[in-house]
Parts: sequence; structure tokens; C-alpha cells
Amino acid sequence: MEKFYYEIPSINRKEEAIAYIKEFYEFKSDIHGTGGLQRFLDNYEGWLDKLQEDYKRIANEEKVPARTYFLIRSSDNRIIGMINIRLALNEKLKKFGGHIGYSIRPTERGKGYNKINLYLGLKVCQEYKIDKVLMDADKDNPASWKTMEALGGVNVREFFDEENSHCIVKDYEINVNESIKNNSNIYEQMIEQLDL
Ligand SMILES: CC(C)(COP(=O)(O)OP(=O)(O)OC[C@H]1O[C@@H](n2cnc3c(N)ncnc32)[C@H](O)[C@@H]1OP(=O)(O)O)[C@@H](O)C(=O)NCCC(=O)NCCS
Repeated sequence: MEKFYYEIPSINRKEEAIAYIKEFYEFKSDIHGTGGLQRFLDNYEGWLDKLQEDYKRIANEEKVPARTYFLIRSSDNRIIGMINIRLALNEKLKKFGGHIGYSIRPTERGKGYNKINLYLGLKVCQEYKIDKVLMDADKDNPASWKTMEALGGVNVREFFDEENSHCIVKDYEINVNESIKNNSNIYEQMIEQLDL
């Protein structure tokens, strides 16, 4: 069975992280959960500084504190996915965006990897005492909302979002402790280590 873990981005993965983003462009895929890495392809070190600022930030109406992780597959030490976890929400994020954005690289999709990504993300939320995670997904992105549903997400609202996505958006809530309790039998065996 494949095993996974989160890694805090460092200079060690510079080339690989840039290649991760380039793969999204190659496959013309939406990019999410990267902490803005796609805007720093020629300034990776600047992105690492930005992640530190993200982490230390005091929440305000414009920005909130957040952590970004690489999802690493142990067997080949490869970046498989990324996740951006907002540790607090402002009014804007409560309405759109929620706590978590994520992605799996295009060549590794459809293997259930985003479910382990979200499970690990919920473990981070538990660590930061976030009891209820709010998430949303475009209705035409079933791989995203089915991930949430697989982890016990409850679809609390569906609406046409005129401001941001300009499409139908599904809002979800996940009870963090309950989700971890109900899914630990599946996912704990897939975790290599939990070093947050
Ligand atoms: C959304 C994304 C992270 C899903 O990653 P993934 O590793 O392919 O997802 P998984 O394989 O873990 O599948 C999760 C669920 O979605 C389903 N699924 C996967 N791909 C699907 C597809 N193309 N169409 C419909 N359902 C799909 C799976 O069957 C699974 O549901 P199940 O447990 O009920 O069977 C990936 O498509 C991605 O990175 N997209 C671009 C970024 C993005 O849109 N992020 C979400 C917005 S923040």
C-alpha cells in the first residue's frame, strides 16, 4: 500500500515544485491549494518567505493565517499534491473559499489520492482546534466535492455564485473529529508520518 505524508515546503524541493506547477499548465488544469506558487515560478525563495508570512499572519478582512503543504508519496519521494489550509476565516472566506484548497498533479489523479490529502488536512485542522471545516466546490468539479463527501462532508448549500466562480457552487461542512474517527480505519495505514 502506498504511504503519504505532508512536508512543509523548503528549498530542497525547488525544481520539483516548479515542475509540479508546470504539469498543470501542460494539462491546462486549474491550480488550487498551492499558496500561490504559480505566481513565484521565477522566485521560489520569495514564495518560501511568503509562506512564512502566511503562517504568522493575524487574521484580517483581507487575509488570514494559512499553512501550505506538499503531499509526498513515500515510495518515490514525489510531490503528488498540495493543500492550503486557512487556520482562521474572515467574512469573505466564510462566504467563498472556506478553510481548504487542494490539488493533485494531473498525472496522478483518479487514484484516491485526494482523499488521503483531505484526511491529512483534517488532521492538521484537528491539531489547530478547528472543529468544523467549511469548504466549497464548483458543481462541475465532482472530483472535488466527491472528495468532501467521501470524508463525511455535508452539502449545506448550493447556489449560483455571481461574484467569484460564475457557476453553481456547492458548500460543504465537515465535522473534523467525527470525520477522522469514521475514516481512520481506511487512512491511518496510508500515513507515513505526521510531522506538522
Ligand atoms: C479535485 C482534485 C484534487 C481531485 O483529485 P483526485 O486525486 O483525482 O481525486 P480522488 O481520486 O481522490 O477522487 C475523489 C473522489 O472524486 C471522484 N472522482 C475523481 N475524479 C473524478 C472525475 N473526473 N469525475 C467524477 N468523479 C471523480 C472519485 O471517484 C472519488 O469519489 P468516490 O470516493 O465517491 O469514488 C483534482 O482533480 C485536482 O487537482 N483538480 C484541480 C484543482 C482543483 O480543482 N481543486 C479543487 C478546488 S479547491
